[in-house]
Amino acid sequence: MMLKNAWYVAAWADEIDQGPIERQIVGDHVVLWRRDDGSPAAVSAFCSHRRLSLANGRVIGNRIVCGYHGLEFAADGTCVTVPCQHAVPKGADIRGYPVEQRWGLVWIWMGDAARADPATIIDVPHWGSADWGYNRGAAMPYDCHYLLITDNLLDPSHVAWVHPTSFGGADGSNVPMRVREGAAGVTVSRWIRDAPVTPFYRDLVPFAGNADRLQQYEVRYPALAVIKAVIVPAGTGGAKDDWGTTPGADAFVMDSYNFITPENDHRSRYYWFQLRNVRPADADLSDAMSAAVLAAFSEDLAVLNEVQRGMDSAPASAISIATDAGPLRFRHRLAQMVAAEQG
Ligand code: FES
Ligand SMILES: [Fe+2]
Repeated sequence: MMLKNAWYVAAWADEIDQGPIERQIVGDHVVLWRRDDGSPAAVSAFCSHRRLSLANGRVIGNRIVCGYHGLEFAADGTCVTVPCQHAVPKGADIRGYPVEQRWGLVWIWMGDAARADPATIIDVPHWGSADWGYNRGAAMPYDCHYLLITDNLLDPSHVAWVHPTSFGGADGSNVPMRVREGAAGVTVSRWIRDAPVTPFYRDLVPFAGNADRLQQYEVRYPALAVIKAVIVPAGTGGAKDDWGTTPGADAFVMDSYNFITPENDHRSRYYWFQLRNVRPADADLSDAMSAAVLAAFSEDLAVLNEVQRGMDSAPASAISIATDAGPLRFRHRLAQMVAAEQG
């Protein structure tokens, strides 16, 4: 159940500044490094000679050099030099992967290289804007299947139980959700009206009193989520489930970008950052938000690792409830895409 023809986050851009690193991505082990010209590169991890991971090697110019006997590989995986002999033997080449650096991240294309189009990497509209503050997180390792994470991201109801002291609040626990399916993914949203501002947002919202709050969770195939939070004074929330107009001066808006990279069937890595429309230059606020988001996402991590354990321990199929509508539609369509890709 893993799509190959897609861009995945391989690493934070600064993770490869100090030398090559190894990652597992949709089952493949790859080594990433930064070339002399500053551009990132990725090849299959294990040397074609004695299979030492090239993460143990070093970068010389634009090539990566194996740390055992010095075979040198170009960014496209071509073996260009074998020490102590004139010719490069047949079979010495390894696989190279298309990579791109964007939004502070290194993206990798795991499928047919001829189909890798950088223009299809997700857009981040407010990136670099002086009016929007930025904070980022770690590369969180989850011991669970990546679809448990997309399930979670398409289910805003969980905040009432998993995040009662941050994103959650009892008032929203029974508000139904609207599910929409588009070509790129599934969106689940709802307005929670005339409720106290929940703890995570209390110091961020530029007004006092009760609020209307939009939760809009969009998950795109195969595993990227854009989560929009809009908080406005009670009674001024949108008539529709989504935010169709420019928010007023007293609105708080936070766009949360969440990128899940499946490592294999039971491990995933989760990258995230947020953009907010208040106090954009406040570095202390950015740090505080990163810490608060990390704390909340750690609550998800603990639950999802335990869900994986439960699924492994009681593998007979579990029941579904109304709030599973978004996750089920997402899984259904993604399964079709994976099946089509595998022919
Ligand atoms: S293992 Fe890489 S050169 Fe021998
Ligand atoms: Fe959560």
